[in-house]
Parts: sequence; C-alpha cells; structure tokens
Amino acid sequence: MSRKVVLGITSSAAAYKGVALASMLRRSGFEVEGVLSGPATRLIGPAQLACVTGRAVHTDLFPAQPADPIPHISLSESAALAVVAPATAHFLARMAWGFADDLLTSTILACDCPVVVAPSMNSRMWANPATRENVQKLASRGVRIAGPVSGALACGTSGEGRMMEPGDILSICLGILGTGA
Ligand SMILES: Cc1cc2nc3c(=O)[nH]c(=O)nc-3n(C[C@H](O)[C@H](O)[C@H](O)COP(=O)(O)O)c2cc1C
Repeated sequence: MSRKVVLGITSSAAAYKGVALASMLRRSGFEVEGVLSGPATRLIGPAQLACVTGRAVHTDLFPAQPADPIPHISLSESAALAVVAPATAHFLARMAWGFADDLLTSTILACDCPVVVAPSMNSRMWANPATRENVQKLASRGVRIAGPVSGALACGTSGEGRMMEPGDILSICLGILGTGA
C-alpha cells in the first residue's frame, strides 16, 4: 500500500497545528507531501513545514522552476490519503463547489483516495448557513469531516469551531488507512 499522504494546510490561525500533524504522520511512517495554500504562507513558512516532512513543500500551481511540470497531478497520484488540516471556511466552500484555482484545490479535486478535512474557524463562521451547507455537501460525497470541537478560539472567544487536536486527527487518518486507532 502507498505510504503517501497529501497534507494541505490553509490559512487558519491553527495552521501551526497542521505542522504538528505533519510531524505525527511522518513519525507514523508516512511520506508527507505538504501543500500550503497561498494565504497559509503568510502564517507559516514552507521551510518550517519542509523541516518536519523532510521533503520540499508545494505552494504553487505554476512553480517558477518546476521540478515537475504538473504538480497537482503528481501529488494526487498514488496518494493513500489526503488530509486538509486546518481547513478554512473559504477552502471548504471552494472544495464543495469543485473549484481548482490553486495548487491545493486542484490537487484535492484530482485525488481519488479518501479525504479528511479538519475545519477550523470562528464559531459564527462555522454556524453560518453557507458553511453548514458546504460541509453537508462534502460529507454527502464521503469526505470525512474531523471536528471541529468546542473550546478556546484564536479570536479570544470560546465556542464551536476550534480545530480538532492533531493527535485526534491522526487517529482518524490511521483508522481510515487501517493502520491503527
Ligand atoms: C490571522 C488570521 C487568522 C485567520 N484564521 C482563520 C480561521 O481560523 N478560519 C477561517 O476560516 N479563516 C481564517 N482566516 C481567514 C482566511 O485566512 C481567509 O478566508 C483566506 O482567504 C482563506 O484562504 P485559504 O483557504 O486559501 O487559505 C484568518 C485570517 C487571518 C488574517
């Protein structure tokens, strides 16, 4: 079985926890292909994620000096699992509608493996009917929705919208891959 996991990180305040998940996946024996959304690179550095995954991190649909001419297809090919953690409201909306206007959405659209998303956002964004509809749409297509949970939020309030802890997301991933938990 392939050991390749595509890990997407979007621009939530919890982006640093995506790096922690990358580390856990690698320590569990997976080859982690890290993909950052454009805005996520404002919150965490590709070099930081690369240190954890031990391989180049992908950010551009059209890289300046492409080692690979069509990265979204290569990334999606033979992946055992794709996980997007954290997943912003914006990413969930684009995924629900099948957008493919950046490297991460294009890669996820091209994946035929199981997909896990871990929403992370302010509780009002999570409660918004637009987000509810988008998440329902994804769940009805078989996308595994991991969380969110209730707790302290980056905006200083508390409520539902906090990203599930990386260790709990890892357990879900291992369960899907049939390698534990
Ligand atoms: C500091 C900061 C933290 C943010 N945290 C979140 C968040 O937790 N969840 C969310 O849905 N959007 C959050 N946003 C808004 C997203 O960054 C914004 O919607 C962005 O366009 C999402 O793009 P992406 O999904 O391609 O990363 C945050 C923005 C800033 C400036």
